[in-house]
Amino acid sequence: MTQDELKALVGRAALRYVVPGTVIGVGTGSTVNHFIDALATMQSPVAGAVSSSKASTERLAARGIRVLEAGEVQRLPVYVDGADEIDARGCMIKGGGAALTREKIVADLAERFVCIADASKRVEVLGRFPLPVEVIAMALPQVARRFEALGGKAVQRPGVLTDNGHPVLDVRGLSITDPPAMEAEINQWPGVVTVGIFARHRAGTCLLGTAEGVVTLSY
Ligand code: 5RP
Repeated sequence: MTQDELKALVGRAALRYVVPGTVIGVGTGSTVNHFIDALATMQSPVAGAVSSSKASTERLAARGIRVLEAGEVQRLPVYVDGADEIDARGCMIKGGGAALTREKIVADLAERFVCIADASKRVEVLGRFPLPVEVIAMALPQVARRFEALGGKAVQRPGVLTDNGHPVLDVRGLSITDPPAMEAEINQWPGVVTVGIFARHRAGTCLLGTAEGVVTLSY
């Protein structure tokens, strides 16, 4: 199976975590696009979705799924999203699609984070995928220097601003052996909007697409 077929497989498999008539959280990316397409085929539909990006909002709306603002709900039963990497504890690197801040906000509303990913995303230690960090523009150089002190090389993602209007740094060369500690540390650097380590908001379940089918991992 191709990587895209594996993404479609887990996108469809995530429907088993969706209760008709509820409002759910929806992430961003090519795997989530398959999930949104699958959502639109449900016989008894969801009541709506809180979206983590303009791109997902447009796709949801185009398929007739009502989109609510985060402020309109207090809790979501489930948030379904992809990941760039996921480790053995369900900690993730996210933000390859530059939606990390809104993804963390919507994930924070959810009782359960269901990560959908093809098998290539499963890693032992986070950090081979460049770590995305949304940063206030004036702080870019000093945040980059802080990463250098940690042994990382931060480069601004060319031509990209987030839905919030901020640039993104991609940091190579980090070995993230303690994701909760590194997330907490980077989060308090002045100018950092969001770091793409999802440890505090890690997945509770991961549906991993493999050649043998969907493997369900619980954390
Ligand atoms: C977007 C994300 C995505 O979930 C992540 O990049 C995975 O994307 P894809 O499903 O296209 O592989 O964090 O900000």
